[in-house]
Amino acid sequence: MELTRDDESILDGRDGEGKRKAMEILVALGEINEAQKLVPISSAQVSGVSYKTIGDYGLEFLSEWASHDTKVKAFTTLNPAGVDPDIANEMGYSKTFIEKQRQIIEVYRSMGIIPSCTCTPYLAGNLPEFGESVAWAESSSVIFANSVLGARTNIESGVSALSSALIGKTPYYGLHIKQNRKPTFEVTVEASLEDMSDYAAMGYAIGQEHDGIPLFKGITPTRDDMKLMGAALATGSISMFHVEDVTQEYAREEKLEKITFGQRELREAYDVLNTIDDPDIICIGCPHCSINEAMDVIKSDPKREVWIFTARQNRSILEKHAKGKNVKIICDTCMVVSPLEDLGIKSVGVNSAKAAFYCRNLSRLDVRFDSLKRLIG
Ligand code: F3S
Repeated sequence: MELTRDDESILDGRDGEGKRKAMEILVALGEINEAQKLVPISSAQVSGVSYKTIGDYGLEFLSEWASHDTKVKAFTTLNPAGVDPDIANEMGYSKTFIEKQRQIIEVYRSMGIIPSCTCTPYLAGNLPEFGESVAWAESSSVIFANSVLGARTNIESGVSALSSALIGKTPYYGLHIKQNRKPTFEVTVEASLEDMSDYAAMGYAIGQEHDGIPLFKGITPTRDDMKLMGAALATGSISMFHVEDVTQEYAREEKLEKITFGQRELREAYDVLNTIDDPDIICIGCPHCSINEAMDVIKSDPKREVWIFTARQNRSILEKHAKGKNVKIICDTCMVVSPLEDLGIKSVGVNSAKAAFYCRNLSRLDVRFDSLKRLIG
């Protein structure tokens, strides 16, 4: 890989051990993937924030890295943490968990990262322009950036996204290169998709069975539909999709492998994720709720309590509308990376296939995956 003189100097330790280590990681990543060079990024989104997922080892690793007075060069935001610090005590999380989570956030903050703690950075001020390269971790934000925003990112790990944040560059390979962003197979949707959860179910089914870049035909999803569908597609290894006449980089391609997605496949996607009929709580917001989605929940005046996970800047506006309703607004975290199981919760109702998948497989919770309307009755 060709490095500039500046890159070489950083690799030689000119800017300190923290930057040297970041550059070493980017060079190794670039060489593995046969990148020719590093390219500038306009932003980074760093994952590996919840104490539930990174534990003491992660906290020590990050603290050591940050101890060299290492500061990010790119505008950088953060994925969700394990608790909402404003209500963590009243919700019953352990004091140890709350304290460790606080320490993790402080380490990231000390590196100059904005502790936005949301997986929808594009709804919280980290909104790249079409065609810009970024280095984002968190698969749901990666697929949204590539497919809906037209920004360019590979799916980064927390460590590689942090390295890019510190250097302000990323290796130029994969989805940073225009010709790698074309569809590789075509999905004709015959099923009738009536709810966001239907889009999520289809995304899950396709994502589990296929690799590459799908081109969907026969659907007209909203941005929120694509948010849930993308998150579900990314539970497999898909990092970009196109929708005919909807997404910005959609282009006709001849000779693609063709598959159809019908009503039977839709039903099967729900069935495979469902383990229970009557969950302990209902959790909406995977990926984090937009204001529109959250307002739809609040306006529905649910009979049973619904926990809405969203970005912090939405709190005050949503709490005003949620007063007197059976709704709890929870920021900075989500139903997956928060240890709900430690609160005694054994099952969740979700309208997100990604949440259903990880609540089952990471948190070992029972799941009802359904439309919001059916979940709240
Ligand atoms: Fe976001 Fe948590 Fe889902 S990080 S995409 S709400 S699993």
